[in-house]
Amino acid sequence: MTNSQPSTTAVQSLLREDRIFTPSSDHAASLGGAWCATMDEYHARHARSIADPEGFWAEIAQDFEWFTPWSKVLEWNCPDAKWFVGATTNICHNAIDRHVLDGHGHEVAMIWEGEPKCAGESGREPEVRHISYGELLEDVSRFANALKSLGVKRGDVVTLYMGMVPELAVAMLACARIGAPHSVIFGGFPAPAITDRMLDAQSRVIVTCDGAWRRGSVVALKHNVDEALDALAAKGHVVEHCVVLQRTKNECTWNPSRDRCWHELVSAQSTECECEAMDSEDLLFLLYTSGSTGKPKGIRHTIGGYMVYTAYTAQQTFNLRPATGQVFWCTADIGWVTGHSYIVYGILQNRVPTLMYEGAPNWPADDRFWEMVQRHRVTHFHTAPTAIRAFMKWGDEHPAKHDLSSLKLLGSVGEPINPEAWMWYREHIGHDHCPIVDTFWQTETGGHVITPLACVTPTVPGSCTLPFFGVDVAVVDETGCEVAANTGGLLVIRKPWPGMLRGIHGDRARFIETYWSRIPGMYLAGDGARRDERGYFWIMGRIDDVINVSGHRLGTMEVESALVSHASVVEAAVVGMPHDIKGTGIAAFVSLAPHVSASEELKSALREHVAGVLGPIAKPDIIRFTQSLPKTRSGKIMRRLLRDVAAGRDSKQDTTTLEDFAVLAALRGNEE
Ligand code: PRX
Repeated sequence: MTNSQPSTTAVQSLLREDRIFTPSSDHAASLGGAWCATMDEYHARHARSIADPEGFWAEIAQDFEWFTPWSKVLEWNCPDAKWFVGATTNICHNAIDRHVLDGHGHEVAMIWEGEPKCAGESGREPEVRHISYGELLEDVSRFANALKSLGVKRGDVVTLYMGMVPELAVAMLACARIGAPHSVIFGGFPAPAITDRMLDAQSRVIVTCDGAWRRGSVVALKHNVDEALDALAAKGHVVEHCVVLQRTKNECTWNPSRDRCWHELVSAQSTECECEAMDSEDLLFLLYTSGSTGKPKGIRHTIGGYMVYTAYTAQQTFNLRPATGQVFWCTADIGWVTGHSYIVYGILQNRVPTLMYEGAPNWPADDRFWEMVQRHRVTHFHTAPTAIRAFMKWGDEHPAKHDLSSLKLLGSVGEPINPEAWMWYREHIGHDHCPIVDTFWQTETGGHVITPLACVTPTVPGSCTLPFFGVDVAVVDETGCEVAANTGGLLVIRKPWPGMLRGIHGDRARFIETYWSRIPGMYLAGDGARRDERGYFWIMGRIDDVINVSGHRLGTMEVESALVSHASVVEAAVVGMPHDIKGTGIAAFVSLAPHVSASEELKSALREHVAGVLGPIAKPDIIRFTQSLPKTRSGKIMRRLLRDVAAGRDSKQDTTTLEDFAVLAALRGNEE
């Protein structure tokens, strides 16, 4: 591979891929010894986990601390699963207290690096904090008491809208400690996202920061919260408390009857706070994610199953071993599920230091990540393909400048990785000796469902390889029958697993409709996939109107609604298009109101408008103005056709039902 330029021909190259990389036994030794040592062992354990899920998971769950034992491992009434029925526990206890009680309170639980304050190549000294399990326990207990002092009780949803500061993890764990489910909202979302989510969750308490640092600027989080809380008040939903952590010291409006300063609130609290004994099936958190239709849905995760599943997947996939010098760095934001599972819960439970950072990968310079790997002696580096493609574009010299010899394992998550990016990652970051684990999963699955295991699975660029233990995943046709090798089909999971979602908050019908109705009795992931002759899985992308932009999930309908909420727009259709860095970019076809004229200024205004409603991630990459949109005779927008137009492909689609052929011709001519 000589060309380091990213390519958009991922799908074609996937089909021809035959390079295979087998982890060496030295490698297992450098990771403290393999949890799973041979492929025979993997296959035997996987087969057992599918044949006897209850026996399998009971054994795994024994390694956790439960306050009262379960009476039954699994109760399954499709689509409703209950795991560790009747047991009580607390995930905060298993993530922190257990380690302190076992005498590890002095060990580092979390390393945090703030955004460096000065740009330039030399002398940039970021703020770094090392937080031990003992300190984390005190911080979490104090904040848990603070929440209680505000009247927060078991079952009350607490919204967290913060930057990437350690206090975000502290707040999550404090919520878990007192049995108050958290709903974390990504700090890059604008005010309407807060309004919608707080209303849907009926949440009356929010924790935020004055601002967050990003590329030397302040993202005004508290300002967005004020706007959202005003909008909520206008809808009759009163938010009682807003706790504000000072981070950026920007000017904030202060409402004394509602706003509380984190530091003042916390300093008055005791460092003792007992963990609530929670039922295994009590709600741990809501996390909103996009679907094909409507507003983002609140995915429900409950305590016991998620606790066991995140800890076990983290341990097995990454071969985590406490007290062996491992440092785990997942570069995701905690606002997404990857951060929940593999920055906070899964990693802390394994007693391996988790690194969290604030800011951006290319500020103050393009080598920030590699400087961080060197500074913190990171052993496990986990990121998204979109970031890898950006590293490639920025140039090989940036990683080459730093000592990356601490690295032992690389991870990829969030979207299909093209083999070119995979090979570059292996060569320039992993120096040809670190295995790459391409982990496939979703907000709904809680943790990995298809993934290599660090020390044992032979990997192939672009394939997420084999199912995780306990996951009965398959590629099927519309009747639910498995398709032949190398044939595309629907990705489904045929049996319950502990990390699975327990529903969509407040919308039972949508839960059933989205995941359980197309192939009765099976969980429909919403992705197309194929399995090769080795049994390896290749994810072929979403089968619904969800697009994956830089690893972030967006519903095309959300972007369309944002566009039509602009006064100049009458109708909009949004589709994904290939994009070198983002994987998928956003193409918007827009018809304007009469008397509004198309212009470059209007395009910019529309982009900003979408960013104001959905956040900068959702800004269309291209906007094409059109008199009307191609529709079938029954009035449905012909999205597949628009996808071809956006990708610049010649359409082989059947256009016999197209209402107006002239529309297509006009769209093709209207290149940006
Ligand atoms: O399309 C798949 C893609 O991301 C979707 C899930 O998005 P989200 O719930 O935001 O979770 C992302 C982080 C787990 C999936 O339906 N996806 C995720 N991981 C991969 C992937 N596609 C291919 N390969 C992956 N490793």
